[in-house]
Amino acid sequence: MKLSEINYSNKFDDLNNQLNKFINQDKHVILIDSKLSSIVNLDTRFKIYEIEIDESMKNLNTIEKIWEIMFSESLDRNSKIIGIGGGVLTDLVGFAASTFKRGASLSLVPSTFLGMVDAAHGGKTGFNNKYGKNQIGTFFIPEEIFVCTEFLSSLSEMEMNNGIIESLKSGFLGDDKIIQMIYKDEHKNNFEEIIKKSIHVKYQILKNDLHESNERMFLNLGHTIGHLIEIDSNYNISHGQAVAIGLLKGFEISETRFDLSRSIREEFKTFLNKKSMKTEYIFSSNQTKLKELITNDKKVSNGVVKFVLIKNIQEPVLVDFPIDDLLEALTNE
Ligand SMILES: NC(=O)c1ccc[n+]([C@@H]2O[C@H](COP(=O)([O-])OP(=O)(O)OC[C@H]3O[C@@H](n4cnc5c(N)ncnc54)[C@H](O)[C@@H]3O)[C@@H](O)[C@H]2O)c1
Repeated sequence: MKLSEINYSNKFDDLNNQLNKFINQDKHVILIDSKLSSIVNLDTRFKIYEIEIDESMKNLNTIEKIWEIMFSESLDRNSKIIGIGGGVLTDLVGFAASTFKRGASLSLVPSTFLGMVDAAHGGKTGFNNKYGKNQIGTFFIPEEIFVCTEFLSSLSEMEMNNGIIESLKSGFLGDDKIIQMIYKDEHKNNFEEIIKKSIHVKYQILKNDLHESNERMFLNLGHTIGHLIEIDSNYNISHGQAVAIGLLKGFEISETRFDLSRSIREEFKTFLNKKSMKTEYIFSSNQTKLKELITNDKKVSNGVVKFVLIKNIQEPVLVDFPIDDLLEALTNE
């Protein structure tokens, strides 16, 4: 299986140079998150369309708008579609490109830390509907991904934390050095290295299981509980914050099940405290509602959740966790 080619730069000028080759391509279009227009100056010879997005616009209406642009520009399967933005934009553009005439050529430029270490990679595309997040989607690998770390300088602390937590998740799954670098704040001097290391962990997993039948589920470490927290809080808790609490809870369960050293949870808690992030969450939904929410998770079948725990750092394990046991662990009832 061919994964994306990844190009790195740390200045927008270099990114423009890397993208320049598409200007001469027969047809191309750049779809960019409109919030970025004042942040990055792209070569004026590009065909650029700004897309106004946020998570609430990650829906079929926005997909229709993107398809409309593709048709009105008379693009074909060989045209280049370039998406520049965070995970919302890259998921949407990825989906639109994967379905346009059964698949056009796609390149992505992630503009958030989360996008650089996670969302742009691995080919998952999609959008939300009334039944939940990312319920409709495809697997469609972008040909190239352009990581430009100058985008990071305009991100809020919360957006940076979203990426840092995903990067730490990669560390827990497959590279202790990531954890050590982040705990010591060394990533701030070398974002490219931490991004490369995080992507490496993800690609090692993807090359064996792109379509998430087994190993790819490891990437959900911290996310099953994290998603529940996001929904229960009506998305008032950020993704990174929710996953951080999900990781802590997962480590606690791993201590009981696999004798995981308690020091891993303690060290992570100390890190979260240092960043003024929460380490606990109390659900407001009642048991029946929580059970319904868990049942809607894509990793649930026949009352059993495919849940990711760790036996140690770099030793993830997938367990079949009955929904009722998970509920008990979450509410201590
Ligand atoms: N496909 C995957 O494998 C995958 C993995 C993880 C997450 N996701 C998806 O990614 C989405 C979250 O992605 P995200 O955290 O990047 O959120 P996002 O795309 O909503 O971006 C966060 C905010 O930052 C703004 N922004 C983007 N780049 C900026 C920059 N350089 N400077 C300042 N502001 C900037 C955006 O306009 C937005 O307001 C979710 O929808 C999630 O489902 C997908």
